[in-house]
Amino acid sequence: MSDHNHHDSETGYGRFHRRVFERKAGVFAVATTVAISVGALVELIPMFTASSSASWERVDWVTPYTPLEVAGRDIYVREGCYLCHSQMIRPMRAEILRYGPWTRAGEYQYDRPFLLGSRRLGPDLQRVGGKYPDAWHYEHMRDPRSTSPGSVMPVYPWLIDSKIDPADIAASVRALARVGTPYESTDEAWVAGRLQSQGATIVQNLASAGITAEWDDEIVALTAYLQRLGVEGRAHLANQGGDS
Ligand code: HEC
Repeated sequence: MSDHNHHDSETGYGRFHRRVFERKAGVFAVATTVAISVGALVELIPMFTASSSASWERVDWVTPYTPLEVAGRDIYVREGCYLCHSQMIRPMRAEILRYGPWTRAGEYQYDRPFLLGSRRLGPDLQRVGGKYPDAWHYEHMRDPRSTSPGSVMPVYPWLIDSKIDPADIAASVRALARVGTPYESTDEAWVAGRLQSQGATIVQNLASAGITAEWDDEIVALTAYLQRLGVEGRAHLANQGGDS
């Protein structure tokens, strides 16, 4: 009590604060709302006033995921790979040197849901596409220690035995089309055809490394997804020069 009075009489501030803010809930609510709004406006105003070349606009240099990549992405989500891997290269020198050009917002335009991740127990995967041969991914997912001694990544041997289901993937493609991803078709026959032709390419790459696989193995789909990550962005941003 005496401590309070001492403070009030010494500065005048404490008394004013208690009288005007702490005792009047309405005034206090308005004042806190104003204070918080300032923070929101600082974030929002630049979004509405920036030039049209802003980096969060829709871009034409990223294409939708193919059906096989959609299948791989669904497996990536199911297995929780995003719990250890981010997909978000920040505009900082160390990140750019390690992972490549920092991520532009438009690169996520077909990512539903986003898989940015919030933890990096493993490296960022945003531009991992093309970094390794298909056979490396196969061996790595079968047993991470076989390619990366000392790795803490779990093994995923069931991806070798489990099969993707074209009907299931057609449903995923239809869902993506419904929310605006431009697919030329969502027929199950079309989806199955695309799955097989892209899968066959990966099966061939694996065969040349002595690995036997089939187009509908889950590990083939997940490899297709990993191998396309950030590839279009890297190609496009390399031509921009300068800022990457
Ligand atoms: C417990 C955390 C953890 C989980 C879960 C995990 N990883 Fe990893 N991952 C790592 C670590 C650590 C490394 C680095 C060592 C290595 O290469 O294995 C890594 C490396 C990788 C790499 C190589 C990256 C590079 O640039 O060298 C790929 C690709 C990868 N993981 C894919 C996956 C996929 C796909 C899944 C889900 C099926 C997954 N990871 C799940 C921890 C994890």
